[in-house]
Amino acid sequence: EKGGHDYFMLKEIAEQPKAVADTLLGRIDGAGRLHLDEVRITPRELREVDKVVIVACGTAFHAGMIAKYAIEHWTRIPCETELASEFRYRDPILDHRTLVVAISQSGETMDTLMALRHAREQGAKVLAICNTNGSTIPRESDAVLYTHAGPEVAVASTKAFLTQLVACYLVALYLGQICGTKWGDEIRTVIRQLSEISGAVERVLATMEPVRALARSLADHDTVLFLGRHVGYPVALEGALKLKELAYMHAEGFAAGELKHGPIALIEDDLPVVVVVPSPRGRSVLHDKIVSNIQEIRARGARTIVIAEEGDEAVVPYADHLIRIPVTPTLLQPLVSTVPLQVFACELATARGNDVDQPRNLAKSVTVE
Ligand code: F6R
Repeated sequence: EKGGHDYFMLKEIAEQPKAVADTLLGRIDGAGRLHLDEVRITPRELREVDKVVIVACGTAFHAGMIAKYAIEHWTRIPCETELASEFRYRDPILDHRTLVVAISQSGETMDTLMALRHAREQGAKVLAICNTNGSTIPRESDAVLYTHAGPEVAVASTKAFLTQLVACYLVALYLGQICGTKWGDEIRTVIRQLSEISGAVERVLATMEPVRALARSLADHDTVLFLGRHVGYPVALEGALKLKELAYMHAEGFAAGELKHGPIALIEDDLPVVVVVPSPRGRSVLHDKIVSNIQEIRARGARTIVIAEEGDEAVVPYADHLIRIPVTPTLLQPLVSTVPLQVFACELATARGNDVDQPRNLAKSVTVE
């Protein structure tokens, strides 16, 4: 049942190229246009949307954070992403022109369910992104876009996360397509690039042996920090969450720009810091800024573990360990940059003698508030 793997988590990490491809299947036609049939909110209703609010918990929340960058870029509709457990209790401002997107693998997370019930009571339309057919969250939503990750057994979410990202990009691109933004050409190009992205996930998986060796060598450390910018910031948070829940280590993710506002005080000799580097093409300002951040922490003794695109030579002098990922469009990079972090956490946890499928104190589906 574990398909020759020691743990479900390893099997599920390996299944990611297929999970991504399956989630795209049938949703992009030959002409490169999107068709999201399960979205029972009409194009007319979608054109009226003036605000998108994403609610989710944990890993699904990180997917929602990344979705915010994509939705605002491709649609120019303001978007907020909020922890479901906070959203419900602050009396959020919602009406019939608000589209609430609830992201949940299990479809049973109580905080997310309560958030969507509250949103519907206020007249908002709710679109669920969910991996479990017929579960409560899609049943109570106006529309649903299913992720096709297949059953996820390991407590720590991996393949569901990648498919949540795919679904978020589909929603963002679909909204962009329907609302007709100035990014028409870019949207068409990205739809094509997205349709080919599972090959890139496959290529990352094929190069993970050095990441596993590195993870094993860090088993006696107490702390690992993660830095990112733009969509790399939620990826850093996700890398830290995986390490906390599996390896029971102190792991924290930061927006790299926040370093000098506090976290840089944590840097000490030989502290491992994972840095997710955005593409040097596209938004090159971001890239240059993060290269400076890597120099700053390295000058203070950090052991830098740099995740950077193939061909990005600027990071080489400052990387104690360099993890290469395939070239992707800036906004899609999390689909490949998250994978080494999953492998890293899984291997480090195993090296520390933990059961990665059943981390202590955690349940797969959190049905209490
Ligand atoms: C982390 C993890 C959790 C879930 C969270 C939401 O690896 O699995 O953080 O992402 O409990 O669960 P769902 O997506 O089922 O609502």
